[in-house]
Amino acid sequence: MNLIYLDNGATTKVDDKVIKKMLPYFNEKFGNASSLHQKGQEARMALEESRRTVANAISAKPSEIIFTSGGSESNNLAIKGVAYEKGRGHIITSKIEHPCVLRTVEELEKKGFEATYIDVDSEGFIDLDQLKNSIRKDTILISVMHANNEIGTIQPIEQIAELCKKHDIIFHTDAVQSFTKIPISVKKLKIDLISFSGHKFHGPKGIGALYIRERIKLKKQMHGGSQERKLRAGTENISGIVGFAEATKIIKNSDIKNMTKLRDKLIDFILNNIDNARLNGSRERRLCNNVNISFDAVEGEAIGGYLDAKGICSSTGSACSSKSLEPSHVLKTIGLTHEEAHGSLRLTLSKYTKEKDIDFVIKVLPDIIKKLRKMSPIK
Ligand SMILES: Cc1ncc(COP(=O)(O)O)c(C=O)c1O
Repeated sequence: MNLIYLDNGATTKVDDKVIKKMLPYFNEKFGNASSLHQKGQEARMALEESRRTVANAISAKPSEIIFTSGGSESNNLAIKGVAYEKGRGHIITSKIEHPCVLRTVEELEKKGFEATYIDVDSEGFIDLDQLKNSIRKDTILISVMHANNEIGTIQPIEQIAELCKKHDIIFHTDAVQSFTKIPISVKKLKIDLISFSGHKFHGPKGIGALYIRERIKLKKQMHGGSQERKLRAGTENISGIVGFAEATKIIKNSDIKNMTKLRDKLIDFILNNIDNARLNGSRERRLCNNVNISFDAVEGEAIGGYLDAKGICSSTGSACSSKSLEPSHVLKTIGLTHEEAHGSLRLTLSKYTKEKDIDFVIKVLPDIIKKLRKMSPIK
């Protein structure tokens, strides 16, 4: 059976070009970038070249990029780094952030920091008035994600950045889902901290990066050696870093266009042909690869099971929380009932998704929903 992978919001296939670039760094160029001999310097050169590539992708300076183990670590370092550097104060974030942001802010609350969690509207857009009204004299940080991992809504980070600039507040955004899909230039946007993760854009797992604007001070969260500007101890993962950098270069505009076209074909088909289905998230400001639909009177898990049996990988809510029985906090926050949230299905495309893959989903999905609705006790 041909497998159709539509769970690219959870993780992506590593691009062959990325693998090729990484391979020599396992058994040929395997040096430790801190060693002074030639093997070490070879690794150091690859590290600094990769840093330049990543900086270039967002119009930053190489000295403003540090490598981490992924999106979770970048978010932890950005948020705790600012909080502990300042010592105390108030943090603003949204209610639909990834758990690695929400749990970090909650943890800081236990340590005496104060926090405000901003609501979003029914399409997942942050309430900008509430955000403005929540700013206090002691607000030290605003952290709002660029694009949501579950429903794909793209936040107005330009406006939030302006607001932060006006009030002299540090602005962090989690761009884990949007990076390489939506252009980001730190020259144009006054964002102070941005988190990235390699495995969401055809790079390897376990590698991420954090953009830290010049003069923004963070308290380190990992103690040890003086790697990564003394901000992140630990021997650098050179093969991962080289792969991460290569992955920033490979997505083309035509890939984005193709994903957008296929995303729209799938959304239009479902909304026009399956009764009582609603799109979650915004139609207009939406990640090019995200489809998230709630179907009345069915369980998303059951749809996913039937799709899997047909060779289609999908997800309900986000991969990180799909093991829990609690409905997604994102779907609840945009106003879905418990049942509606449980009836949601997320299909996330990649540059490898073909039109025939989407045509196959279109062919099998209506019957799956019909069958499940017949069996449903809710109806
Ligand atoms: C929006 C968002 N932020 C952060 C993360 C965590 O990234 P990582 O898996 O690299 O730790 C994810 C992963 O699903 C995500 O979707």
